[in-house]
Amino acid sequence: MTTLGAVYLEAGLFSRLGGKVKELSGSIQTVAIVTDDTVKDLYLRPAIDSFERAGLRPLCFSIPPGEESKSAAMYIALLNWLAESRLTRTDAIAALGGGVVGDLAGFAAATYLRGIPLVQIPTTLLAMVDSSIGGKTGIDLPAGKNLAGAFYQPLATFCDPELLAPLPPEVLTDGWAEAVKYGMIRSAPLLESLSSSLLLAPNAEIIKTCIGIKQDIVQRDEFDTGERQLLNFGHTVGHAIETLSGYTVSHGRAVAIGMSVITRAAVRKGLCPPECQTALERALAVFGLPQQTDYSPAALYEASLSDKKRAGGAITEIIPRAAGECVLHKMPSGELLDWITLGVQP
Ligand code: GLY
Repeated sequence: MTTLGAVYLEAGLFSRLGGKVKELSGSIQTVAIVTDDTVKDLYLRPAIDSFERAGLRPLCFSIPPGEESKSAAMYIALLNWLAESRLTRTDAIAALGGGVVGDLAGFAAATYLRGIPLVQIPTTLLAMVDSSIGGKTGIDLPAGKNLAGAFYQPLATFCDPELLAPLPPEVLTDGWAEAVKYGMIRSAPLLESLSSSLLLAPNAEIIKTCIGIKQDIVQRDEFDTGERQLLNFGHTVGHAIETLSGYTVSHGRAVAIGMSVITRAAVRKGLCPPECQTALERALAVFGLPQQTDYSPAALYEASLSDKKRAGGAITEIIPRAAGECVLHKMPSGELLDWITLGVQP
């Protein structure tokens, strides 16, 4: 069983960040905060204050927001900055931001000096419920998303739901798509509660449930060789849509479409009851998440072939069997085209 970093989830936690990091490791002296220019304006000053109050020396590297920053060029620039700043193995990187910041900073932490301590401080719902948990780090290559990276567990993840307050609804929506994913793969009750239109804002309870599902799965399959692949539900087609759109379709929206395509295909193939599709569609509709794409099946299939889920001539797709239950389904790569073709039809 793997040892995942501790996850702290508490409203107001952010102001006590410095002390918490100090508690984790007395040897950390310098904290290299990696953030983006949007998050910087909101949260860099209080983060610096908190680290300084704890007697730590904060430094900052800020990137332009957006998927384009998860590039090889930015990764090298970050490594060079860490080296110029003379970060040592007893210092730490703090990823303050959403999924892009967490993946990039995490990959730098995994590889700089062959690995230095990392703390994740997610500031988006998507990062809180998914990307900051479980140790996946990486960057994109021109051929596709997340094609270079490492499994590298953070020392700790600090989730403060109060940080979500200033987020525009469209950014929250991306996180809700991942929450719907957890409902589909593991918890019909979660899917049901997400479908309740009473849920207007993320609350600690929902975040805790999603994190619990993810930790449970990652504990058993840290390196993504089996059960963890369930977390990729909707992601093969989702990543294809992100790539084809040049990342103008956001991750959560792309995954929402990906989940819809595969679920429609599974129902049409008689592998899953229509009630499952209804439950998914209801939950996605609550958050205004899209369920259709205009990209052709051939284009989606072509773009999905660079996906990591392909091994030899086969691809492992995640298909629903019922609301709250998905399974891994290994198929020849060519069969994926049938699935996509069946699933994109309205
Ligand atoms: N986001 C999928 C995973 O962490 O495995």
